[in-house]
Amino acid sequence: MIVTMNRAELKSAREKLPAPVVLVPTMGALHNGHRALLRRARELAGPRGSVAVSIFVNPLQFGPNEDLGTYPRTLESDLAACEAEGVDLVFAPSVREMYPQEQLVMVDPGPAGEILEGEFRPGFFRGVLTVVLKLFSLVRPDIAVFGQKDAQQLVLVRRMSADFGLGIEIEAVPTVRADDGLALSSRNKYLSAEQRAVAPVLHRALSVGAAAAPLGPGAVLAAAQAVLDDAERTQPAGASPRVDYLALADARSYAPVPRKDRDFHGTAVLAIAARVGTTRLIDNVIVEFGTERDAADD
Ligand code: PAJ
Repeated sequence: MIVTMNRAELKSAREKLPAPVVLVPTMGALHNGHRALLRRARELAGPRGSVAVSIFVNPLQFGPNEDLGTYPRTLESDLAACEAEGVDLVFAPSVREMYPQEQLVMVDPGPAGEILEGEFRPGFFRGVLTVVLKLFSLVRPDIAVFGQKDAQQLVLVRRMSADFGLGIEIEAVPTVRADDGLALSSRNKYLSAEQRAVAPVLHRALSVGAAAAPLGPGAVLAAAQAVLDDAERTQPAGASPRVDYLALADARSYAPVPRKDRDFHGTAVLAIAARVGTTRLIDNVIVEFGTERDAADD
C-alpha cells in the first residue's frame, strides 16, 4: 500500500496504478461504514484494478461553530484499516497541500444544495463539492464510491459528475448500522452512554415511517413524527433528540415530495437530522411509493 501526503507523489503513484481506479473519499476516523465502501470499491476494481482512498478533514465544509477542531483524527488506525481491506493507495494531504492558496473558485451546488442539510449548514455542500471535485482532479478515478448514509451528498456528487461531464461513475453503498439501528458515524464518538442509548430512535422513526408507504407521503411523515413525539413524552426533559428536519425527498433529484401528493410514484428518501446533546446526527431510509398500490390495482 502506498501512502502519500503530497500531490507530486500522488501524481507519480497514480501513473502506475492499473485501471480501473476506484476512489473512496473520506475524512478518516474510519469505521465499518467506511469499510463497506472499501470492500465495494475492491469489488468494482476487481483483483487487477486499484482502490484509492483519500483521508482529509476538509475545512471548507465546516461552519464557524462546527466541530472542525475536535473532529476525530486517527490516521494510524485508518491506515491499518486500509491495509486490511487491500487498499492500493492512500492520499492523506495536509490542509496546505490541498489548499496551497485561498480557494477562490468554488462549486455551486444549485437548488438541491440549499435545502435540508444545505439550509441548516450554509456553505456545506459548496465545501463538499469543491473538495470532491479537487480530489477527482488529483486522483482521476474511473469510479468513486459514496455512502447512502449521506443521501443528499450522494445526489449532489452524482449531479456534479453528470452536469460537468466528469465521466466518473458514482457508486452508492447502503448505510451500515449498529445492531440497534443507529447509523455508524465518526460523530457517534461524541455521544455519552445516555445519548447513545437515545440515538437509535432516529432510525426507529424512519423505519416506522417507511412502513406507512402504501398510505402515501403524508402518512409516512406522520408515522415517523409519532415515534419522535412518543420519545419526547417518555424521555426525561431535554434528553430526546431535537429535530432539525424530517423530510421526504425524491431520491434522484432531492426535490421535496409534497406531503399531500397521494399519487407520488417512485423512490424517495425519508431523511432526518437531529441533535442529541450537542452532536448532530443524520440518517435516512429509502421509501418506495407506488409499487404496492400498483400491485393492488392489477
Ligand atoms: P465521511 O463522513 O468520512 O464519509 C466518507 C464516506 O463514507 C461518505 O460517502 C459517507 O456517506 C460514507 N459513510 C459514512 N458512514 C457510513 C455508514 N454508516 N454506512 C455507509 N456509508 C457511510 O462524507 C464525507 O466524509 C465528506 O463529506 C467527503 C465526501 C469525504 C468530502 O470531504
